Amino acid sequence: MSGYQDYALEVVDDAAAMSRRAAAIVADQVVADPETVLAVPTGNTPLGMFADLIGRVEAGALDFGRCRLFCLDEYVGVAPDDPNSLTGWLSDAFARPARFDPARVHALPSTDSDPIAGAARYEDRLAALGGLDLAVLGLGGNGHVAYNEPGSAADSRTRVLTLTPASIRQAAAYWQGAVPIPDQAMTIGIGTLREAKHIVLIVSGLGKAEILRRSLEDPMTDVVPASWLRLAGPRLTVVADRAAASELSQPRA
Ligand code: PGA
Repeated sequence: MSGYQDYALEVVDDAAAMSRRAAAIVADQVVADPETVLAVPTGNTPLGMFADLIGRVEAGALDFGRCRLFCLDEYVGVAPDDPNSLTGWLSDAFARPARFDPARVHALPSTDSDPIAGAARYEDRLAALGGLDLAVLGLGGNGHVAYNEPGSAADSRTRVLTLTPASIRQAAAYWQGAVPIPDQAMTIGIGTLREAKHIVLIVSGLGKAEILRRSLEDPMTDVVPASWLRLAGPRLTVVADRAAASELSQPRA
């Protein structure tokens, strides 16, 4: 376990600065390795990062064409072209405008009749590519990362799980109640994410301050799945704005 507190914490002024910093990390990685195997989150937090990266692509400064994008989570029974699909959302918000090759965007097998076999295939595909080079993650209000809900083990793999009422409410609010939110999701596992060569957790706003403190300063626990990311030690970078970092006992600049 030694070294598990050795993650990097970068506290920046605001959401815009968080987005710029996260985009710079992604861009540097892709310039260094044009075949980067990447994961990025859904939700509000990554929108500024996406805009920055799409701007670089449009300016000809960045090319995702040979990268791989692995989706982090999807509702069970939901296909990418369904209106409540996270894969579809990610495609519209990032993959298509950032000009990923659709053949290199990997959706979770959320409609597979055998989700256990499907999840194993997803893990195998990722492993065959050497795992994730860079996983950018958001932090759920209940401490989830991807859809690893409270109760998720440190070594959990890609699987189906039941969402908590809090996550279903958060998702329903995001979609403004316009689409049904299934009560089960398929998510990449904590163990899978922890194997990424670099993990970047992006966190913004006062509403995330307490859960960020619990994630970073309480004992690691499956009650707060994000806390397990600290096991990645120096391979974890947390980029938080001042508001999100405001409850940390020892904010490091
Ligand atoms: P948010 O979602 O970025 O919309 O806050 C984060 C999450 O639930 O992972």
